[in-house]
Amino acid sequence: MSIKKFEVRRRYDTTAKHYDPRYTNIQNQKYREVFSNGNLSDYELILDVGAGTGLLLDFCKEKTQDVFCCDFSINMLIEGKKKHKNGFFICSDIESLPFRKNSFDLCTSFSVLQNIQDINKTIAEKFWVLKDNGELILTALKKKFDKNDLKHIIDKTGFKLVKIWNLSVEDISLIARKGER
Ligand SMILES: C[S@@+](CC[C@H](N)C(=O)[O-])C[C@H]1O[C@@H](n2cnc3c(N)ncnc32)[C@H](O)[C@@H]1O
Repeated sequence: MSIKKFEVRRRYDTTAKHYDPRYTNIQNQKYREVFSNGNLSDYELILDVGAGTGLLLDFCKEKTQDVFCCDFSINMLIEGKKKHKNGFFICSDIESLPFRKNSFDLCTSFSVLQNIQDINKTIAEKFWVLKDNGELILTALKKKFDKNDLKHIIDKTGFKLVKIWNLSVEDISLIARKGER
């Protein structure tokens, strides 16, 4: 593991207990805007990468089936597990996901890309674990990324961009699809 990655993981491990009180409101605002058309229940199996304490799972709880939460910070996952005793929390680096090809209907990643070194590899991993016609939903900090950078990455990894737009809060959001529906 690189020093940068190690430092990122240590930062989230150290601050995990404070994450929900600090960030629940802003993250919920992002989820509400991204899923404003009520489409969450269209997806059966969801993988949330860089899921942290499972705030998206909190948001999805009554709307969808199963959300698998994947993160490399064990303390963030422990905070999530306290809220969801029967939830699926997987400790893994998102640059190398421990899932079979074609497993998920939706792969999400909210506010994670700023921490990632090899973004192309990370997006390619999501392509691998998604079913054909599966969807990718990403948000990324406006201060670190612009829409053209993100479009370029999406094109290179074989996804088809469906939509990209600015959220009212700090992130850009995009929806992309693996193959044609
Ligand atoms: C800003 S938090 C966002 C958490 C969550 N997505 C949310 O909406 O609240 C970023 C998360 O990405 C995780 N993360 C960063 N780099 C990662 C990596 N290479 N592999 C797995 N998780 C990573 C961190 O541990 C942290 O939990």
